[in-house]
Amino acid sequence: MSIPHRFDILVCPHPSLSPCRFGKGETVSTTKTGVATEPQPESDGLHPVSPSMLLPERCGDFELYLAQNGSMVLYAVRGELFSEEHRERLADRGVDRLYVKSVEKEHFDNYVREHLDDILADESIPVQERANVWLDATSVLARKAFDRTFPKSLNNVRFSRIRKILRQSMSFFSRPEVLRHLAVFTGQGREQYHHGIGVMVLAAGVMNTLVRDDADHLVSVCSGAILHDVGKLTLPENLFDRHEDDLTPEELEQAHSHPVLGVSRCASVQLPQEALHCILFHHEREDGSGFPSQALGSVLPLHAKVVGLCDEYENLTREKPWRKAFTPFEALSHIKAEKDRFDPDLIKRLILVLSRAEIM
Ligand SMILES: [Fe+2]
Ligand SMILES: [Fe+2]
Repeated sequence: MSIPHRFDILVCPHPSLSPCRFGKGETVSTTKTGVATEPQPESDGLHPVSPSMLLPERCGDFELYLAQNGSMVLYAVRGELFSEEHRERLADRGVDRLYVKSVEKEHFDNYVREHLDDILADESIPVQERANVWLDATSVLARKAFDRTFPKSLNNVRFSRIRKILRQSMSFFSRPEVLRHLAVFTGQGREQYHHGIGVMVLAAGVMNTLVRDDADHLVSVCSGAILHDVGKLTLPENLFDRHEDDLTPEELEQAHSHPVLGVSRCASVQLPQEALHCILFHHEREDGSGFPSQALGSVLPLHAKVVGLCDEYENLTREKPWRKAFTPFEALSHIKAEKDRFDPDLIKRLILVLSRAEIM
């Protein structure tokens, strides 16, 4: 079936336009009464994407579709050159979603990753939207790295992609409003990689108050922050669904081995030392009350302490099977009450980062 294609479809819809087919052949539809319905992206094998991603003078290796009168029509063919006019025309008409087919989503993800620098620096795109793009692109990579069905879900190729995306985004993270937007989304996700990204976003904020001119160091710490709990993938999932007080001594010992298991899981990956520190030391505490080695704060690397503190805060503000999420204020009060366990200067910096982002 030939699918009509027009860039000016919103300006001059053509009577020959017809619904196109996706997936197993179902047609994106109208109701029996003939009233147009909004296509259901998930059921139609489509993924919504923002028109802001159509960067001028770039082309993508995917087709783009537009919802119109209850049907999907082809908006851009594979390899089409985008222009500023496309974005403007769609914005003028209030179109905030285009769609890519599931089978081409990977091509779209590659396009976003390739142009992430430009997207994040594009001041014509609202910060919230850029933050969403970053989150989407990072989630795709982190989800693969945290796939528990594959012992080698993290490999050098995947790690270098994570590093690249972090390198592209460090200056974007110096903006407090980015943290505000991202905190909402990462807090809602229930998967391990959501927590990893949540800790990374906070750690980037705190690290930015400590080191501003060493991008390599920041990227290494942030990659370690995303991966800090990767060792949990080696252990039974339900081990972390219960409060520590409800675990047997054997189960607790197992749970406390996840930092060491994390380092083992990454043995074949060329991780920078800072990332390994974050994985191994994120549960160590200033007063030596942490695990696995009960090291004192005086011997712990500063970046591992940053990740440990952000991990504690992120866990407290996240809903658990045995309790509701703490509010930011409650979480910080809890941390301050345990001030011997955390570096007081880092607590102040975390509070500063959260207040600048208007999270508390
Ligand atoms: Fe942990
Ligand atoms: Fe954690």
